[in-house]
Amino acid sequence: MVSIKLENVSKIFGQVRALDGVNLDIADGEFVVFLGPSGGGKSTLLLIVAGIYKPTTGHVYFDSEDVTDLPPKDRNVGMVFQSYALYPHMTVYDNIAFPLKLKKMPRSEIDRKVRDVAKLMRIDHLLDRRPSQLSGGQQQRVALARALAKEPSVLLLDEPLSNLDALLRINMRAELKRLQRELKVTTIYVTHDQVEAMSMADKIVVINEGRIQQVGGPDEIYGRPANTFVATFIGTLPMNLIPCTLTWEADGGVLLCPGFKYRVPSGIVSNVKGDEVYLGIRPEHIEVAGDGDVKARVVVFEPLGKDAVITAQIDEHIVKVITKPEVRVSPGDTIGLRLPPEKLFIYDKDTGQLL
Ligand SMILES: Nc1ncnc2c1ncn2[C@@H]1O[C@H](COP(=O)(O)OP(=O)(O)O)[C@@H](O)[C@H]1O
Ligand SMILES: [Mg+2]
Repeated sequence: MVSIKLENVSKIFGQVRALDGVNLDIADGEFVVFLGPSGGGKSTLLLIVAGIYKPTTGHVYFDSEDVTDLPPKDRNVGMVFQSYALYPHMTVYDNIAFPLKLKKMPRSEIDRKVRDVAKLMRIDHLLDRRPSQLSGGQQQRVALARALAKEPSVLLLDEPLSNLDALLRINMRAELKRLQRELKVTTIYVTHDQVEAMSMADKIVVINEGRIQQVGGPDEIYGRPANTFVATFIGTLPMNLIPCTLTWEADGGVLLCPGFKYRVPSGIVSNVKGDEVYLGIRPEHIEVAGDGDVKARVVVFEPLGKDAVITAQIDEHIVKVITKPEVRVSPGDTIGLRLPPEKLFIYDKDTGQLL
């Protein structure tokens, strides 16, 4: 087991800057998720940890050893990708045994390891089959078993569940988490799916446009998004961002927003530079209340079973509200919305950073 340190890692492919100055610490035994939209640089970063790509600048450390120039085979990493890449002509047994044979391990030891890991992954009854005779979920377990058999010090998983159907994905998610807890192997898991990230990660690293946007536990990423990218990427629906001007009066800050004025409780904004800001509030935190802070006009009402979504217009600005389905409103109604101050975020409009 190892800790991993990335120091000022950048990667340039021709004209494309895939990664730009990435610094990150991953603790021994930690389950870290790289989360972000497609093209953000997640896979590139994972391949750099694996040693398959060399960073254009920067260094990679496993514990205190600089492994930047070390080839993948000397890093003891196990990898699983979205495409399972099993050898089609080999049985499940031989697929799992293959990396161990390459290591010239004695036959009896290989046999013991293959059977142990197959049991762990609950595929011990499938050892004689070929990949084509397995379901997608079973194939993915074989790929995981193959990665785990060599007892890697780092497990690298790149969207490993994307090809599975929804229910299987939920089950595999729980199982992977259990497995990782049990083996305590330092794990990096790449996904664009925030629910997957939230449910599994000790630590989430949000990556977009080649840069780390925020690092934190699931509660922190949801509860205190560091910038407007994270605020709108994480959540069932994106956070509402209402453009406002922050002014100061004798007794504190006042947001002048299109169609309403909002007094900012002291303590929410401290060190404000830019006056042009976004008032950020999650749809699930806005309350429908007759005497609310803001008057809004309902555009769409969508009952969705457990919740309902109201799309409403405040002046020219559209906001989304997640509420209870009992709150019956109709298009054209004027409703009051309360914006609880403790749920409010204020972002600098230019930099997108949380103030
Ligand atoms: N081998 C490569 N050659 C050229 N460009 C690449 C290569 N690999 C990735 N890229 C580019 O780098 C950026 C990041 O890609 P990637 O790491 O695959 O993102 P993600 O895994 O987050 O979807 C993208 O713009 C992608 O097109
Ligand atoms: Mg990728």
